[in-house]
Amino acid sequence: MALLKIRKKGDPTLRARCRAVEKIDGRILTLLDDMAETMRKADGVGLAAPQVGVRRRVVVIETEDSGLIELINPEITAREGEQLEREGCLSIPDECGITRRPARVKVQALDRSGTMRTYEGEGLLARAFCHEIDHLDGKLYIDPDVLVRMVTDEDDE
Ligand code: NI
Repeated sequence: MALLKIRKKGDPTLRARCRAVEKIDGRILTLLDDMAETMRKADGVGLAAPQVGVRRRVVVIETEDSGLIELINPEITAREGEQLEREGCLSIPDECGITRRPARVKVQALDRSGTMRTYEGEGLLARAFCHEIDHLDGKLYIDPDVLVRMVTDEDDE
């Protein structure tokens, strides 16, 4: 496994629309392994392939409750409710903002064996699904349709 370099805001790959994975080959499996290692090292709850310079529809997510979730060609198939919570991004260091996201989502994706699986997430996991899948279409949480407002240090006082 290898640590990958995380691209930062301003890198054009973060604004690219990523291509679907057509064949889950050794390169994709290695990418999944390296992305999980990179996410853990950076203390993140999710990482999308364009954040490491790969324009493919691949995501890893890991929350305390969910364990490691690997998503290939993910789609959000249902959204319910709304949450306004704090969100950050490894590609936008030292900043965070309040975003508007669904409270609950369902996601369909291939796993590493090529099996189609369905996931349900609420709260943090719902935010992570939305945030990471947005990355695959070049969207960031700071975009005006998602961001309610940035959080400043004064909010914590
Ligand atoms: Ni992000």
